[in-house]
Order: sequence, then structure tokens, then C-alpha cells
Amino acid sequence: MEMRKEFGYAFFLLFFAVCMSRAGSDLVISKLDRRIDLTSHVVRVLSTLKVENAGKSVVSELLLAFPYIQAKNLANLKALHNEGKGKGSAINLPVVETHPGGMPEGLTFYSVSLHEGLEKGKSLTINVLAIFTYSLEPFPEEISQADGQLVVYQDSAYYLSPYVVKSQSLNVLLPAGRVESYTKHPNGKHVDSEIKYGPYEKLPPFSYSPIVLHFENNNPFVVAQELVREIEVSHWGSIYVTEHYNLVHKGAANKGGFSRLDYQSRSYMGGRSSLKQLVARLPPRAHSIYYRDDIGNISTSHLWGDSRKTQLEIEPRFPLFGGWRTSFTIGYGLPLQDFLFVAEGKRFLNITFGCPFDEVVIDDLVVKVVLPEGSNEISVSVPIQTKQWNEIKYSHLDIVGRPVAVLEKNNVVPEHNIYFQVHYNFNNLSLLREPLMLISGFLFLFIACIAYMHTDMSISKSSASYIAKLQWDEVQATVQQVQNIIKRCLSAHEKLETSLQDLSRTGDVQSCKATRKVADGLLKELSKELKPLMVFLQSSPQAAQIWPKVEELVAKEKEMLEKLTQKHAAVVECFEKKCSGRETENRVAPYQQKLAALKREIDDLLEYIDEI
Ligand SMILES: *[C@@H]1O[C@H](CO)[C@@H](O)[C@H](O)[C@H]1NC(C)=O
Ligand SMILES: *[C@@H]1O[C@H](CO)[C@@H](O)[C@H](O)[C@H]1NC(C)=O
Repeated sequence: MEMRKEFGYAFFLLFFAVCMSRAGSDLVISKLDRRIDLTSHVVRVLSTLKVENAGKSVVSELLLAFPYIQAKNLANLKALHNEGKGKGSAINLPVVETHPGGMPEGLTFYSVSLHEGLEKGKSLTINVLAIFTYSLEPFPEEISQADGQLVVYQDSAYYLSPYVVKSQSLNVLLPAGRVESYTKHPNGKHVDSEIKYGPYEKLPPFSYSPIVLHFENNNPFVVAQELVREIEVSHWGSIYVTEHYNLVHKGAANKGGFSRLDYQSRSYMGGRSSLKQLVARLPPRAHSIYYRDDIGNISTSHLWGDSRKTQLEIEPRFPLFGGWRTSFTIGYGLPLQDFLFVAEGKRFLNITFGCPFDEVVIDDLVVKVVLPEGSNEISVSVPIQTKQWNEIKYSHLDIVGRPVAVLEKNNVVPEHNIYFQVHYNFNNLSLLREPLMLISGFLFLFIACIAYMHTDMSISKSSASYIAKLQWDEVQATVQQVQNIIKRCLSAHEKLETSLQDLSRTGDVQSCKATRKVADGLLKELSKELKPLMVFLQSSPQAAQIWPKVEELVAKEKEMLEKLTQKHAAVVECFEKKCSGRETENRVAPYQQKLAALKREIDDLLEYIDEI
């Protein structure tokens, strides 16, 4: 196999001979099992170390070493000590980065603090879980739609450690699929979907032996380059969460384009590594759930749930291949009482930090907790390291703004989806502030009106920006009126459609004709009402941007009415001539299609105009 990658680790080997003698330590690792899980695109390495104090004094720290090229992708590092045999009594040992002297270069060290210290002659078992992102490299870097995705992983067959390791073994877990190649020496074995190395006995400190695995991994490498989660607390009963995603598939890039035909007709061979859907695990009783992108609401989502969770399955508008990106927003409401509590006179929010989707790596996560206006003495407690600062958010009716606690973290993996707390003080009287403001606002308006009648406000009224604002308000109001008229036209259309259904049911052709007459009259009225509005919009410079859409909307409605009138006449005629059902259908079919298309276009235009 032609492998262009240079083996970045090789140079370590030079150091080992030098350093072996220097790393004089009292600790010895008497047994070590390492398990590397490569079944997803997040690499998880679980090492179980039996550590022995062979020296003469108490030892209080254990050093973990990683080559720099691994350490830079390290997302999470945890050390657990199981007290006794039983599960559930695991103690989290503090881990900090450290720079011990006299150690080889190119390595990053972490120090695990050994609880009460390890006395001489005693031993201790510690589980170390290290999670890495960006550690599987697609090779080849480009594949076509029909290909599987192959990746390369590099590590060492020996556990890299500043201590002597008496006995060790390594198991590498692979996803189902083919294994192109793996380093056979020393002692590599491929059994089912596992590759085993070892056991190795009595290896000196910093022993290292590079291994390269090349295998199929068809997981979509879903990375959120940016995710902004906004958690807004409203004391009126709900918490609203909005999440803006910027996703990219970081697996092997798609070459030769995408064929939807191949994709759909032979899905078993096409796009094995593409992202087809995402599943979010939301808390139970989540409500008001939506999923939208730049174009609008996306309806291809499914929702189900029980008392323990709500599951939201979303499908992007197109399957995401390597190198492709998509951005979208999901939003949901949560019942306040499930997440907001009171302790020691303070309120606190207890909610999850990370993203609710499975196996998504987040390059840059920003979590904003927006508290009610008037909250103070805000403090945040998060069990992981994050950047933190405060902001103010203004929305309508706010005077001083809402305090926002912001947390930011890079390189986030699913294991970071932990609970964090925001404590704050809040005076219940503040809750009444907004209603009181509304009341006093009306009072003020009332007084202002009276004052207005008695003063000359010619200066402010003639200022350019004031006039521009008035004009814009007028344009908006007019557009709104146009929309209302169009909506009334649409409901008149519906009445016409209903009259046709009634006709086929009751056979009462007179009443059908009468409905038609009434509708015609109404529609004529509406079109008269529309005229001056359109003249105003066309002539108003402020409406220049929206005018083409409004014009199109009105034209589409006209066309729809025309088609509908023709259809109506055709059906009535068929009825009177007693045509067969098939014949009637044949005559109506062409209108039917056109009408459906027009209705969709009109709805889209209404929606577009709504958002102005
Ligand atoms: C999108 O869905 C949300 C929630 O169901 C709804 O409130 C909103 O009006 C919808 N927007 C459009 C443009 O349909
Ligand atoms: C936060 O909620 C979780 C899940 O309900 C719970 O396990 C945890 O103890 C809570 N944390 C605090 C500080 O209340």
C-alpha cells in the first residue's frame, strides 16, 4: 500500500534510550490493559493500570504521557479509581497538565493526583479514559458516492509511559467492514473486528513501537464547526432552548458529484458514509419543537417520546457527503419546574451543557443562559474547564436588559454533555415589572396624546429619519392589508372548491351556481380594495424592495382565480351534460395540477413577505 504519511512518532525512538535511565521513579505499572475503540469517529482509549509503589516513600502523583500529536486532539481525560471491588464507588481523581523536568521533548504530561497517596509496597488500580477527536484520517482523502470510507489510525503497540510496565496488552476495536492492513509486528493478531497486540512483558519507560491501522469506517464524521445554544429562562413557566448548528462532514471528500438517482434506487451501495439523519435526545416533556434552516421550516422530522426522553429525528434537505456542510436551527421549550430550583434562598438552573445529537464533535460551543431581567448575583458552576463571561440581552419591554451568562468551550465530545448550574438572585417583584410597565406605558401614551394636541412638534415631526420611519410604517401596514385581502381571496377560493364537492354529493346545481355568484361578487370587491394599495406601494420608494414580491403575489392569485373559474365552469357543465365520472376527471385534471402549484407558490410568497 502506498502510504504518504510520514510516521511522526518515529523520532521518539531516539529519545527512549536516553531517557530510560533518567526517569527514575518509585512507581511501576505491574499490569496494564489498553482498549482503543475506533468504531465511531471519536477515538476512545480506556487504559486500566495497576500501579505499584516499589520505592521507599509515599507517592502522590501518577504521570500520564501523550505524544504531542495525540495530545493536541485530546478532548477529554479522566482518571477513576475504583475503591473496593464493587461498581459505583468510582472516585474521580483530579488530572492537570504538568511539565516535569528531565523528560523527553515532544510529549505532553498530565499528573493524576493519587487521592491519599500510595504507600510503599502498596498497589492501586486506576482507569484512565482519554478521548480524541480528529485522530482518524480518511485515506484515500476522496471517494466517490459508491465507495466505502477508509481511514488510517496511528498509535503505539506499547503503552507510552514514564514508568516500567511489567505486563501489558492492547485491544483495538474496529467497526464492521474490511481491514485493508495493520502493522503485524510485534505480535499483531486480527480476530473478528478486533486487532490484538501483546502481551508484552517487562518494557522499559518510554517504550514505543508505531502501529498503523487502515480500515473501513463508514460513520459520517459529523463536526459542528460552530454551535450556539441559547437557553432562555422565563419565570412565566418555560425554558426556551434555541440551537444554531453549522455542520460539516469531515470524512473522505465526495468526488464525482452526487446522483440522487443512484442514491435512492441503490441505496445499499450509495453514500454509505453520508449523513442521512440525526437523532436528538431531548428532555422529557419538551414542547414547541421546531427544525428550520435558511429556507424555512423543514417538515422531515419525526418526534416520539416517553416519560424519560423525547426523541427528535431530523433529516437534512439533502444527504451530507464528505466535505459538505449544512446549517440549521432547532428550538424547543422545556417546563420550568424540571430545571429551575431554589436552594439557600437562591434560584438555580440545572441543565445539560453539550449538544443533544449523538456522536457530534463540536469545534466551538457557545452556551448562553439568558436570565430574567432583574436577576443578579449570578454564578456559574461547570465541572469542566470553559471560558466564561457575562453579557446583556435586550428584547422588547426590557429596561435594563437580561443578564446572560456565556460559556465557551472548544473540542467538545458527547462525554461533555454534563449538567451545569447557574445560580442567581431574583426578586419576585421584578416579575411584575413588565405588566406594570405596560400599564404605565399606556398611561404615558395617554398623557402624551393630550400633550401632543397642545404643543407644536414641527421640528421633530419634520426630521428626515422621523419621516422615513413613518413612511416605512405605512408601507408595512399596507403590505399587511394586501396580505389580508389575498387571504380573504384564498378563503373565497376554498368556498368555490367546497361548492363543487357539495355538487357531486347533493346534485344541487342551483345552490352551486349561487355560491359562485356570491364568490364572484366578493372577489370583485376585494380586487377593487386592492387597487389603491397597489398604487401606493408601487409609488413608494420605501417599498421598492418588497414590491416585486407583492406584485407577483397578486398576479399569482389572479391566475389562480382564473384557473379556478375555468374549473368551476367545466365541472358545472359536465354535471349538466351528465358526463361520466372519468370524463369529468379528464377535463378537470389539468386545472387541478396547476392550481396546486399556484397555491404552493402563493403560500411561499406569503411566508416570504411575512418575514420582512
Ligand atoms: C415554523 O414552525 C414553528 C413551530 O411549529 C412555527 O411557530 C412557525 O410559525 C413556523 N414558521 C413557518 C414560516 O411556517
Ligand atoms: C442536576 O440534574 C441531574 C439530573 O436530574 C441530577 O443528577 C443532578 O444531581 C442535578 N444537580 C444538582 C446540582 O442539582
